[in-house]
Amino acid sequence: MNLALKHPLAFVPTMGALHTGHQSLIEIAKSNCSNVLVSIFVNPLQFENPEDLAKYPRDLEGDIEKAESAGATFVWSPELEEIYPENPEIISAGDLGNKFEGVHRFGHFDGVLTVVKRLFELASPEIAVFGEKDFQQLFLIKKMVNELDLGVRIIDAPIIREEDGLAMSSRNVRLNKESRAASLVISKALNEARGAKSIKSARDVLHKVLATEPNFLLDYAEIIDADSFEIAGATCASPRALVAGWISGVRLIDNMVISL
Ligand code: PAF
Repeated sequence: MNLALKHPLAFVPTMGALHTGHQSLIEIAKSNCSNVLVSIFVNPLQFENPEDLAKYPRDLEGDIEKAESAGATFVWSPELEEIYPENPEIISAGDLGNKFEGVHRFGHFDGVLTVVKRLFELASPEIAVFGEKDFQQLFLIKKMVNELDLGVRIIDAPIIREEDGLAMSSRNVRLNKESRAASLVISKALNEARGAKSIKSARDVLHKVLATEPNFLLDYAEIIDADSFEIAGATCASPRALVAGWISGVRLIDNMVISL
């Protein structure tokens, strides 16, 4: 395969269905490097549920337009065989791959790390940008890059929110008017937890606010230590609140720094 890419290169891997959140990643990539590659590949290995994979929104033409208008100089939409030749090397996300998101999405992070490593191999970027919205994914990718010494500088991109606070996600288009309104409980809970006086009270506030929305089905809500991804103790220096759950069959995740 010949990608004919220019280096140095900043890379933004995506699964398409681009929205303003992705465009902000591309803009961050562009502000770090004039050559920006955006990949669009819906990775079957990271979907534990075939229905979710089938329902994943796809709009290649629209995606190319959005990527280019945000500053991409190259948009790459590889075929399955290009990414996964016979017997692909599967990367294990280890113990953390089975916690939080991993409890609810079995094998998901092995799939993410496997595809990201493979995309890095093919594109050889110097820089790659990932959003903080998928905070556990970001943590695991950084860990893999360090452990395997992949030589790619990972840049964290802040969460982009709708005006009313909902974190942008490709899944949001599946929320109807009622569930869209119900989804606001997530950012409300995070914002209230952020102002708490202790880790314990942040955890309590998070659960209390989330429980006020009967249409929200909780997977987990926890305060973790962003440096280790362990559950945050009382003296944790970098606490972060994580929330995941379902509204009318749509799974939503979000997170926020807790500023004690
Ligand atoms: O965050 C995503 O969109 C995906 O998990 C990624 C990093 C592009 C890998 O498929």
